Amino acid sequence: MGLFLEMFTVLVMAVFLQGWLPLGCLEEERAALFQLKDAFNYPNGTSLPSWRKGDIHCCSWENVECNSSTGRVIALNLWSLSNHKQGDWYFNTSLFLPFQELNDLSLWDNRIAGLVEKKGSYELQQLSKLKYLDLRYNRFNNSILSSIVGFSSLKSLYLSYNRLEGLIDFKESLSTLKVLDLSGNNINKLVASRGSSNLYLRLNHITTYGSSFQLLQSLGAFPYLTKLDLSDNNFRGRILGDELQNLSSLQRLYLDGCSLDEHSLHKLGALSSLKLLSLSRVSGIIPYQDFLDLKNLKYLDLSSNTFNNSIFQTINKGICDLNHLQILYIDNNDLSGFLPSCLANLTSLQLLSLSSNHLKIPMSLNPLYNLSRLEYFDGSGNEIYAEEDDHNLSPKFQLEVLFLSGRGQSVGTFPKFLYHKVNLQYMSLTNIQIKGEFPNWLIENNTYLQELHLENCSLLGPFLLPKNSHMSLSFLSISTNHFQGQIPSKIGDRLPRLEVLLMSDNGFSGSIPLSLGNISSLQVLDLSNNVLTGTILSNNSLQGQIPRWIGNMPSLEFLDLSRNNFSGHLPPRFGTSSKLRHVSLSRNKLQGPIAMAFYDSCEIFALDLSHNDLTGRIPEWIDRLSNLRFLLLGYNNLEGEIPIQLYRLDRLTLIDLSHNYLSGNIPSLMISAHLFPFQYNSRDSVSSSEPSFEFTTKNVSLSYRGSIVQYFTGIDFSCNNFSGEIPPKIGNLSMIKVLNLSHNSLTGPIPPTFSRLKEIESLDLSYNKLDGEIPPQLTKLFFLEFFNVAHNNLSGKTPARVAQFATFEESCYKDNPFLCGQPLSKVCGAAMSPSPTPTLTTNEDNSGFMDMDVFYVTFGVAYIMVLLVIGAVLYINPYWRRAWFYFIEVSSNNCYYFLVDNIPILSKFGFS
Ligand SMILES: *[C@@H]1O[C@H](CO)[C@@H](O)[C@H](O)[C@H]1NC(C)=O
Ligand SMILES: *[C@@H]1O[C@H](CO)[C@@H](O)[C@H](O)[C@H]1NC(C)=O
Ligand SMILES: *[C@@H]1O[C@H](CO)[C@@H](O)[C@H](O)[C@H]1NC(C)=O
Ligand SMILES: *[C@@H]1O[C@H](CO)[C@@H](O)[C@H](O)[C@H]1NC(C)=O
Ligand SMILES: *[C@@H]1O[C@H](CO)[C@@H](O)[C@H](O)[C@H]1NC(C)=O
Ligand SMILES: *[C@@H]1O[C@H](CO)[C@@H](O)[C@H](O)[C@H]1NC(C)=O
Ligand SMILES: *[C@@H]1O[C@H](CO)[C@@H](O)[C@H](O)[C@H]1NC(C)=O
Ligand SMILES: *[C@@H]1O[C@H](CO)[C@@H](O)[C@H](O)[C@H]1NC(C)=O
Repeated sequence: MGLFLEMFTVLVMAVFLQGWLPLGCLEEERAALFQLKDAFNYPNGTSLPSWRKGDIHCCSWENVECNSSTGRVIALNLWSLSNHKQGDWYFNTSLFLPFQELNDLSLWDNRIAGLVEKKGSYELQQLSKLKYLDLRYNRFNNSILSSIVGFSSLKSLYLSYNRLEGLIDFKESLSTLKVLDLSGNNINKLVASRGSSNLYLRLNHITTYGSSFQLLQSLGAFPYLTKLDLSDNNFRGRILGDELQNLSSLQRLYLDGCSLDEHSLHKLGALSSLKLLSLSRVSGIIPYQDFLDLKNLKYLDLSSNTFNNSIFQTINKGICDLNHLQILYIDNNDLSGFLPSCLANLTSLQLLSLSSNHLKIPMSLNPLYNLSRLEYFDGSGNEIYAEEDDHNLSPKFQLEVLFLSGRGQSVGTFPKFLYHKVNLQYMSLTNIQIKGEFPNWLIENNTYLQELHLENCSLLGPFLLPKNSHMSLSFLSISTNHFQGQIPSKIGDRLPRLEVLLMSDNGFSGSIPLSLGNISSLQVLDLSNNVLTGTILSNNSLQGQIPRWIGNMPSLEFLDLSRNNFSGHLPPRFGTSSKLRHVSLSRNKLQGPIAMAFYDSCEIFALDLSHNDLTGRIPEWIDRLSNLRFLLLGYNNLEGEIPIQLYRLDRLTLIDLSHNYLSGNIPSLMISAHLFPFQYNSRDSVSSSEPSFEFTTKNVSLSYRGSIVQYFTGIDFSCNNFSGEIPPKIGNLSMIKVLNLSHNSLTGPIPPTFSRLKEIESLDLSYNKLDGEIPPQLTKLFFLEFFNVAHNNLSGKTPARVAQFATFEESCYKDNPFLCGQPLSKVCGAAMSPSPTPTLTTNEDNSGFMDMDVFYVTFGVAYIMVLLVIGAVLYINPYWRRAWFYFIEVSSNNCYYFLVDNIPILSKFGFS
């Protein structure tokens, strides 16, 4: 009998081939690392938890990089580490002296106000190998300049977004510099006695802080400046051509996000050596006449503006005259109609991006046939249409990268020119109806093909493998088509280098081929929404169980087998899978105790075993999983008390133990407002292993992906046998958004300290034996959307009908015989007996297991970087809030929520 893999099967394996050598490091450097850790954590922070005293392999610690042959520390990436609560602080530079081989030092976003060093000792200078020094987003003032002089090999210096002001005098220190970033400071003059040749100077966001006029003029002292980034400044009323006229070596000028008027670019044409001009997301007026005189431009970026077709050719000027152009970005503009024919004159063009306009782009790309150098074309987000290919013509270009994603149009067949292409490395044809077979010839012809996206193209028939093994293809997505039949058994042999394989939403049937297990590089495999059956292993004795071999994959990081019919016990030990970070086995039929299953998986970050039939107690070794942020054990048959070891998990943000048979007291919990960056997956190419949540109420489930989950914090202990009083210390969980203690046997009062739960949005205490008054201070909980204390023994008056409490209806209070006042129909009469006063010290009773440890549920706020936070607030937060309020609204008596994992795939192709 086969194991039926239901509609949703996701098996994700993160396998990283290149392991690191478990190197030790110099004793002296290790001791110095601990001093650094102490400095960042002073007085009581918890950053850098993986730097452990007993661990000698400091080259494998996070944020540390060593030279693999010498074992010496060469890079320290110490960003966003300091305890932000403590405010500005000073760094003792002697702490870096042991790192004599240091090349890279990054200290950004740490609120450092200055460096402390022995007077006149220039300690930092002793780091003679230092090439890269990043001090962005700190609180340095001009006094930092005297500490960073005289480096013998410094190439890049980042001082942006500090408190530098007025005159910046670098004396002689610029001689080796290639990159200098002074953005976001209030400076008005730059002086350097010996300028560096070939310098790249960044001065973004200067005018928001003060006058830029003098500053631009002082750039005359940098005659060798070759690259200048003036993005995000306001140049209305300025004539940049005049101010930059003496920069005769300037080759690259970035004016992205600037505010311009009709004079700003006047005389820019005089900068005759300019090869690159970037003018994306400009506001105000962009006068064409001026920059189109830059006849030597090789690179022009005009993306995210409002240019129409006249930019290509007006009466006497146009992009089409810039016949040295090699790279042209004009995506996200107002181009419309047919592909402009004058593009054929840009014979040097190598990269052309026209995406997200209103153009009609022929699938055959016929108008571009003569562009023999074209390697990269992006026409996605336009109207892609079919056109009769001319069989006699073969294009002169050899594309390496091709994006032709449409908007669901019908185009017939694969364009003929693809049959001649042998250099493709990346191709994306999505959301167009091709209605052909799987183009295995495309993989066969293009030996260097690395990524192939063919999602939602109405492709039919079986999945055809290339005839020979293809050694380059690492990403293949054929999701959402009409493929049928078996997944070929040789897939693992023919595509042995796959890292990501997405085949969901098709009609594949039969079993999962064994050879997939041979693809040692595979990180993500999505076979969901097919009609696959059969066993995962042919060995029938393992049928239906989670196969043991999963636990033997040394690089497995991300395992999602949720929503299947796996039964039997958990594998005894995920022994060698010590890198496991994210495990979801929810919604299966797993039985038996958790036993020692994850004993060795100390890196686990999210563990979801909810909706199974697990029995026994929560294991006492749980504190070994010291990185745990999300623990979901709801909907099982677990019993016994919560082990005290659970309270040592000081990074938990979400804990769901609901719907079990757990008993004993509710622990007192505390939260520390700790900030640490979200480092889920270090790989850029496939950020697929981000966790995501699905919150479900009876019929509604909402899923939240990616960084949203960082904002999430909650406790669900509902539907268990917990007894005793609610510890008032729970009121210290000031960051918590959901607290559900309903359906237990809790006694005593509602602690008045709950009025400190400033972030709480859902509070459910219904179906317990609580007595006393509802603390009137709860009306201060301004984010509360859902509140339920029904079915208790509460007495006295309901809270005033103000703020959020004006919205709670009778059902929130019902079945409390001695409760009176609005919205209940029972009026509070004088005859009412005085209600007992709630006490603040009830928690003494629980000391038996509580005084051992204070339980910190740590709240991981999204503190990635200042700029990302802005993005997150604008983008994620509105969506999250809206969805969340909806969730609160549909909640009824019970607060059901659980976590499953989806796999958002963000694959980005970087063109250099
Ligand atoms: C951490 O240190 C700060 C500042 O010294 C102090 O206010 C706070 O109480 C300390 N917290 C703990 C848990 O020790
Ligand atoms: C590592 O050290 C060796 C020997 O000093 C040196 O040749 C090599 O360039 C270093 N590698 C890096 C990445 O610094
Ligand atoms: C800086 O650190 C060194 C070594 O730990 C110590 O000797 C020195 O006194 C410190 N300097 C200051 C100003 O704290
Ligand atoms: C700059 O910071 C230093 C401490 O690093 C302080 O002593 C000095 O007064 C500051 N200077 C100005 C001009 O604010
Ligand atoms: C450019 O150089 C000329 C001659 O050296 C000088 O007179 C002029 O002031 C300079 N202009 C700027 C903007 O620095
Ligand atoms: C290409 O350039 C030539 C010479 O400048 C011009 O005569 C011709 O019209 C241009 N072709 C197109 C299609 O614009
Ligand atoms: C391409 O060049 C050939 C001659 O080299 C010419 O006949 C043809 O018209 C050109 N095609 C386009 C689209 O410009
Ligand atoms: C590419 O594959 C097609 C179909 O198999 C074949 O006709 C064509 O000759 C191949 N092209 C090259 C350049 O190998």
